[in-house]
Amino acid sequence: MPYLKSGERHAVRLELNGRIVTGHAEPRMLLTDFLRHVIGATGTHVGCEHGVCGACTVQIDGVPARACLTLAVQLDGASVRTVEGLAPEPGRLSILQAAFRKHHALQCGFCTAGILMSLDAFLQRKRDADEEELREFLGGHICRCTGYGPIVAAALEAARQMRE
Ligand code: FES
Ligand code: FES
Repeated sequence: MPYLKSGERHAVRLELNGRIVTGHAEPRMLLTDFLRHVIGATGTHVGCEHGVCGACTVQIDGVPARACLTLAVQLDGASVRTVEGLAPEPGRLSILQAAFRKHHALQCGFCTAGILMSLDAFLQRKRDADEEELREFLGGHICRCTGYGPIVAAALEAARQMRE
């Protein structure tokens, strides 16, 4: 691992939602700040900044990760997927996003980007997830609006559609 001087900005080049982006970051800059303030990708939300709420969850090389616990310089050369990359094309929602809309699985929307990114990765590998598994999985995310019921209903419907 290269030694990076604090106080100096370092080039970070990564693939974001299939597109190469570059920017500069001090070694202590969080991925959340890099995405939002350097790249201008504001879909990833910031809540607790302590790895607790899950609002900042993105996929790094296909695996869900807390962007608030990740340094931007760690991701030089990595592939990052955020909520902006979920829709298959402009004007269309992914199966999971459409299910969220149908089931009113968001209210203020603060938690939504992170939950979508986690559920997207989870359902890719576990399309037969049942309600209990989904509820346990969602324990890694805080939603203070919905009571989780509509989120679980949306996830179950998305899983069913993905299996068809
Ligand atoms: S903002 Fe990252 S887990 Fe809460
Ligand atoms: S919709 Fe408001 S926190 Fe989840």
